[in-house]
Amino acid sequence: KTPDHQVPRDPRLIRLTGVHPFNVEAPLSDLYSEGFLTSPELFYVRNHGPVPYVEEAAIPNWEFSVEGLVENPITITLKELMNEYMNVTYPVTLVCAGNRRKEQNVVRKTKGFSWGPAGVSTALFTGVAMSDVIRKAKPTRRARYVCMEGADKLPNGYYGTSVKLNWAMDPNRGVMLAHGMNGEMLRPDHGKPLRAVIPGQIGGRSVKWLKKLIITDAPSDNWYHIWDNRVLPTMVSPEQAANEPDWWKDERYAIYDLSTNSAIAYPAHEEQLCLVGAPDYYRVKGYAYGGGGRRVTRVEVSLDKGKTWQLAKIDYAEDRYRDAEEQDLFGGKLDMAWRESSFCWCFWNIDIPVSELQGAKDILVRAMDESMNLQPRDMYWSVLGMMNNPWYRITISLEN
Ligand code: MTE
Repeated sequence: KTPDHQVPRDPRLIRLTGVHPFNVEAPLSDLYSEGFLTSPELFYVRNHGPVPYVEEAAIPNWEFSVEGLVENPITITLKELMNEYMNVTYPVTLVCAGNRRKEQNVVRKTKGFSWGPAGVSTALFTGVAMSDVIRKAKPTRRARYVCMEGADKLPNGYYGTSVKLNWAMDPNRGVMLAHGMNGEMLRPDHGKPLRAVIPGQIGGRSVKWLKKLIITDAPSDNWYHIWDNRVLPTMVSPEQAANEPDWWKDERYAIYDLSTNSAIAYPAHEEQLCLVGAPDYYRVKGYAYGGGGRRVTRVEVSLDKGKTWQLAKIDYAEDRYRDAEEQDLFGGKLDMAWRESSFCWCFWNIDIPVSELQGAKDILVRAMDESMNLQPRDMYWSVLGMMNNPWYRITISLEN
C-alpha cells in the first residue's frame, strides 16, 4: 500500500515515465505563472520508486539516526526534531539534474527520460539545520562525508547519496532537515515526513523519506550515488557506460553544485505571436538560476543566433524574504541571516520592440553567475544527460 494512489495529482502535470514511478513536471508557462513559490500541485516530482507509506498516527514517531564516525550515535524522532531543535524557514529552489534533458535526447539518446525545462521548483522549507543534529552526534576526526539514506526500497537497495561534511556543517550553505513545505507538512511525493534539502546542489542530493545520516571518511557507496547523478566524459557511449564500470567509480564525475541555467517561459517554444494591434513591445520572460549559492548576475537575450545580446532585467524575489525577516513577518522563524548566498531562481524579462521581433526566427537566452560561469553555446552531451545548460532557444513565428 502506498500513498502514490491516494494523493490527488494535478491534471496539468506532464508525466515523464508513464504511470509508475511518478515523475512529473508542469507546463513551463503554468510553472512560471505561479511566480516565485511553486504550489505543491505543480512542484516537479522525481521518484525512483514507490512513495513509502507512513500511517498518519506514526508520523511524530518517525525515527532517523546519525551513525558512523561519531562518538555519540543518536536516534531522533520527528517530534523531537520539531520540539527540541531550532526550526527555521527559508525559500530554496530545487532542480533535478535532468532538467532540460529532452534537448540532449534529441541530439543522441541518453539513459534518462526527457525532462523539459520545468524540472525546477521553489518552496519555503521548514526544518532544522542538519549541522545542529550532526554536532550532537560528535563526528570523529576522520569524518569527511555525510551519507544519507531514504526509506524507499528500490531494485538496488534504498535510495542514498552523500555530500561533504564541511558543506553540511557550513551555516552559509543552509543544509536542512526539512519537514515542512510552504507552511504545511511535506507532501508524500516530496519526502513526507522528513527530507534533506541541500540548497544550490542538484535535487538528487536532497534525500527524501530520510531515515539515516551515516558519517564516513569516503563518499557514499550506495548504488544510486555511484550509478546516478554523474556527468561522464562526453565520449563515453551508452555501450561503454554499460560495459565498463570503471567510468562510474570515479567520484570526480559526480555532480554537486548546479550549473548556471535559464529558460524562456514566454513566448512558448513554437508559439505563433499575434502582434497585430499589440503594443510596440513584446515582453520576453523566463527564469534563471545559478549553482552552489552563486547569484545570477546577468541574463542576456539574442535575436540573431548569438551575434549580439541584449541585457534583461532581473527580479531577485528571494531578497524580499530577507526584508521580510527584518520585519519579523514569519514569527521569527524566517532565517535568512546566513544567506550571503543565493539559493533560489530569479525571474528576468526584457521588452523587445515589435519591429525587431519581426525579423527574428528564434530567441536565445543565456545567464551568467557571479563567478562568471556563463551558459555555453554548445551542449555537453553525456550518457545520463544531466546538467544540460547550453543557451536556451525557442523558435517563434508571427501571425500576419
Ligand atoms: N530521495 C529518495 N529517497 N528517493 C528518490 O527517488 N529522488 C531524488 C531526490 N531525493 C529521490 C530522493 C531526485 S533525483 C530529485 S531531483 C529530488 O529528490 C526531487 O525532489 P522532489 O520530488 O521533491 O521535487
